[in-house]
Parts: sequence; C-alpha cells; structure tokens
Amino acid sequence: METPDSDSSVPPPHVLIFPFPIQGHMNCMLYLSEMLVYSGFHITLLLTDHNLSLLRNNSSSNNNNNNSHPSSLPNIPRLRVLSIPDCLPADHPRNLDGWVELLDSLKTNACPLYKSLLLDLCKMDDVGADGFPAVTCVIADGILPFMIDASEEVGVPAIAFRTASASSLWIYYCIPQLIQSGEVPFRDGADWDEPINSIPGMESFLRRRDLPSPCRLAKNPEDKVLQLLATCTAHSERTRGLILNTLETLESISLEQIRAHMPTTYAIGPLHEMVRAYRSQNNVCAHDKSVSLWHQDCTCMTWLDQQPHRSVIYVSYGSVAVMTRESLIEFWIALVNSGEHFLWVVRSDLLRGEEWTNIWDSLSLEVRKGTEERGCIVSWVPQVEVLAHPAVGCFLTHSGWNSTLESIVGGVPMLCWPFAVDRQINSRLVGEVWRIGLDMKDACDKTTIEKMVRAAMNGETASEIRKNAHELAKMVKNSVVEGGSSFENFQRLIEHIKSLCKRNVE
Ligand code: UDX
Repeated sequence: METPDSDSSVPPPHVLIFPFPIQGHMNCMLYLSEMLVYSGFHITLLLTDHNLSLLRNNSSSNNNNNNSHPSSLPNIPRLRVLSIPDCLPADHPRNLDGWVELLDSLKTNACPLYKSLLLDLCKMDDVGADGFPAVTCVIADGILPFMIDASEEVGVPAIAFRTASASSLWIYYCIPQLIQSGEVPFRDGADWDEPINSIPGMESFLRRRDLPSPCRLAKNPEDKVLQLLATCTAHSERTRGLILNTLETLESISLEQIRAHMPTTYAIGPLHEMVRAYRSQNNVCAHDKSVSLWHQDCTCMTWLDQQPHRSVIYVSYGSVAVMTRESLIEFWIALVNSGEHFLWVVRSDLLRGEEWTNIWDSLSLEVRKGTEERGCIVSWVPQVEVLAHPAVGCFLTHSGWNSTLESIVGGVPMLCWPFAVDRQINSRLVGEVWRIGLDMKDACDKTTIEKMVRAAMNGETASEIRKNAHELAKMVKNSVVEGGSSFENFQRLIEHIKSLCKRNVE
C-alpha cells in the first residue's frame, strides 16, 4: 500500500492525530494512525498526559519502554506519541459523569497549549532527532471543533474524524429541525414510541425513544449538551473533510444525507478490521495491545476455552458508562437466573461512588452459587478477541459504536441495552434495521433482562439473528479489502491528505 511521493523535494506527509481522550475515541483513531503509517505517512498521535500515564502504568514491567512510546501501544515505525495536559485534577471522573467538564477544559485550558505545540511541530526546519518531519496535516476528533480551528489558525489544514455512527451524526445535524418541528424537547406525557418525522431517511423506523439521550433529557431548546452536539456536527461542514468509521452499505441512508451537506465525507470502517486484514495480507507482525486505559485481564480467554460452543453471553457496558447499584443487581440476578454462562466486564469505576465487589455480600446464596458455577467477572478484556471466540453466543452490549462494529465483524448477535448519547440509535439499527439482535432499550428489571437473554441465546429468534449476523459479517469484512467500498474510500482519503500536505508546504 505504501506510495511514497515521487517528488523528493516534497517532505513526506506528517499527520497529527488528536482523539477526544476517552477509550472509544482513542481506539479507532489509533487504527486510522496505523493505516496511515502503512500508506507511507509519519504520524504523531496526541494523547493527554493523564491517558499516557495510564497507558504507561498498564505496560508490563518486563517490556522496554521509552519516553515517547509506551509499550502498551503497538510498536509501529513512523508513529510517535506525544501528550498535552487536559488541565483537570488527577481524580476528576473522565467517564460519562465528567465528559462535559473534560470537553470544557480542553477548550478553555488545553487548546492554547495545543496551539503552541502545533506551532513548534509544523516549523519546516524542525526535523527532530527521531527523524520526524514538520506536521503538514491534522486529523482531530470532530467533537473538538476548537482544536480544528486552532490548527487552521496555525496554518495546518485539518480534517474531522467522528467516531460515532453516521446515523447518530445525521440526527445531531438535524437537531435544529427537531426543535423547529416541536419534536424536541419532549413535551410532558409524550409517547416515546411515537414516530419521529423530521429526520429525512429515518421516518420508517425512528421513534422518540431512539433519539440520542440529550433529546430526551433536554428541558429547553438551549440545553447545553443538545447545542454542543448540534454545533460540533455543523462545524464539520466547514472542515477540509470528514472521516467516519462506518461503511457505505451499512449506513447508506445516513451517508447519503450527510454527503448532501458535507460532500468530502470518507466512510472507511470498520477500521479495526481494515488493520487486521492489512496485517494478515502483508505479514505484518504488530504487537497489538491496542491503547488500553485499563489492564486487560486475559485469564478470561482461558475460561472461554473451557466453555462449549456458543454457550456464553458476553456482557460489557463500554468504557465510560456509570450505573447504579440497583441496576447492577438486576443484571446480576437476571444473568444467573437465565442459566447461561456469562463473561461479564465490570470496570472498577462502573458504579458511582462504590466498589462493585461490595455488592457480593448482599446477594442471595443462590445467586452467588450460580455466579461461581457459570460466571466469569473481570475488569477489562481484549474485546475483539473475545468476540472472535467460538464460545461466545451473544453480546449484551451498551451499543457503543466500536462495540457494535466489533460484534458485527465477529458475526455475534447483540442484545442491546443502550446507554446514553449516541447508543440509542445504534441499538435501533441493530434490532429493527439490520435485524442482528434485540433491543432492550429502557428496560432494566431482572425479569425482562432474563427473558431477553434467553431469547437472544436460544430458540427461533436466536437462530434468525445469528443467521443475519453471519451474513452481515461477510459483507462488512469484504468492504475493507481491495475492491471494497471502505478500502477504495481510504485510498481517496490518502490522496486528499497528500494534496492538502503538498499545498501546505508550497
Ligand atoms: C464511546 C461511544 O459509545 C461511541 O459510540 C463513540 O463513538 C466512541 O466513544 P464507549 O461508550 O466506551 O465509547 O463504547 P465503544 O464505542 O463500544 O468503545 C469501547 C471500546 O473499548 C471498544 O473498542 C472495545 O473493544 C473496548 N473494550 C471494552 C475493551 O477493549 N475491553 C473491554 O473490556 C471493554
């Protein structure tokens, strides 16, 4: 794939990539970084000091470490990692409870630091000892529009990358129409199963309850989060391009609508599968530990090896969800009562204000016994590997976009319990549009969860969603190899970045 520029007077493209500093955003932007390296680019991945120190802590002590490259990142030539402070106290929650403050702090406090770093990195005579040329292009997370503006102010062209589904983005783009039509904010007593009519292309399946959660939480049209999502999405119209981790056939309706406003949109996903396919075709042996902010507990893979084919329900709520003790107990009892084997990721910060292990003593003897017999609870897993394991029969997911794509590629049907912001629409796509899973939106009682787990694992419905999931997996995998739509879009993106870099040095 490597296509160095024939004109040796032109320095090689050097792209600075800046993800919003949470796990779900970092993962897919690292995969993009890797693909750009394979295309001959130099990459600087910019993280926050906080996350870089978590990565370093997760590095096993017997790995070689140096200052710019934590060993928990794949060791890829021409990719370096730098960091800036997020300017929040060390103990600030960087999960769903604290993400708006994180965004505010990046805007107000970190953005000037970013600008001055970029100024240094883009000086033409600034070729460091590590052989990295000047930065000639930026790809920044689309939810950081101020970083994109800062890059352009410094004179570096910037492209936006949105890590969520195209469908969620299209809805954010239409927030002004939702407000104008009176569908948002929800009026008191509104029926959440009523169809939504002001999102072109989604009239046949979108209900009030499938709208991103800020639509249901907003008390007035000026709601901060609602406006934040609307403005950062509209901002992408003014960038040099928009990159999405999705593919043409999966989200054709939303992509078509988005392109009517943002024609330079590249659908190049699923990026994790594009990287896997590239590595396997080119015998690239990358030491893939991804960018895990939590320590991966790989003992679960040994546990999975001992379970029968498709007998396990894998349960995870992603990297930022926080829940109440009551909800966790409902899940716990339901999982045990379903009689299924379960692999359950319970992050150390999943419960607000307490350790989840405190709950153990309040569970009945029966639930504790069922857990010991059929359950495996860990704090973090290598999720892509888990979803590829033959013992996994279903994924009970919070419907984060990465998790959704990873499950699709693994051919694993989903039981969706969407958790906030964009996940509400993702689960509707899974249940109603692609029919590769069941949508358990807005239910959190043990009886419903148990019933849905049984339906997703066994019987007619389970066979149907499993069959659909297998077919979709084949189609999605084909998109990232030569001749596939994401592969071809990626080639176009490469040419676009090269032309921006060239113009920038002329
Ligand atoms: C969020 C949003 O959900 C998503 O839609 C947005 O675009 C990016 O940020 P998050 O809620 O954490 O992310 O979910 P998800 O998108 O699914 O990302 C979680 C990532 O963590 C996945 O790539 C998953 O593989 C990884 N993960 C999760 C692990 O590696 N191990 C685990 O145990 C759990």
